[in-house]
Amino acid sequence: MRARINPASPFARKVRIVLRERGLSGQVEEVETSVSPVAPNADLARSNPLVKIPALILDDGTTLFDSRVVCEYLDTVGSAPRLFPAAGPERWNALRLQSLCDGILDAAVISRYELAVRPEALRWKDWIAGQRTKIDGGVDALEREQPSWGQAFGIGQIGAACVLGYLDFRFPDIAWRASHPGLVAWFEGVSKRPSVRDTTPRA
Ligand code: BEZ
Repeated sequence: MRARINPASPFARKVRIVLRERGLSGQVEEVETSVSPVAPNADLARSNPLVKIPALILDDGTTLFDSRVVCEYLDTVGSAPRLFPAAGPERWNALRLQSLCDGILDAAVISRYELAVRPEALRWKDWIAGQRTKIDGGVDALEREQPSWGQAFGIGQIGAACVLGYLDFRFPDIAWRASHPGLVAWFEGVSKRPSVRDTTPRA
């Protein structure tokens, strides 16, 4: 299998952490893929018509996307402990937390594109502020919910690690640490996991 990833992408990082947590790194080649919202990668488009990473190309040629589908597929490969609870309230709580984190990441990534790619004269301050409200509200929710996580490190917590890592990487000005002491301690702890440490975002 081949995973098309970009080392800056927090959604690709979810997949990269899942690969490591489930001991699948040796079975999946990570292929660094450049992406741009304004210059679609023609090679990637042949695998994923949405021209997005992450995408997982299976041995039979099928391509799976997006990060949720790829992560859940990888959770069915091998016999390591599952990162997605199978059923019941535990499953819905995990999927809900994953959605919360993906929503924060959506707002952060499109803000990043807005600030790094869109010409300054075309930027819309109110729109950027609206995305920032989602990021701030989402991180506040993570702070409230974090005490209930205990030692768990499933798909929801993987999403949370990707959120905080991406904010550090692209939005140091957000300074989330100043008002989220629970997340500070939690992130310090999970950052020692090899899966998190070895996937620190880079350009
Ligand atoms: C970034 O450079 O921040 C980025 C790159 C790929 C996907 C998402 C974000």
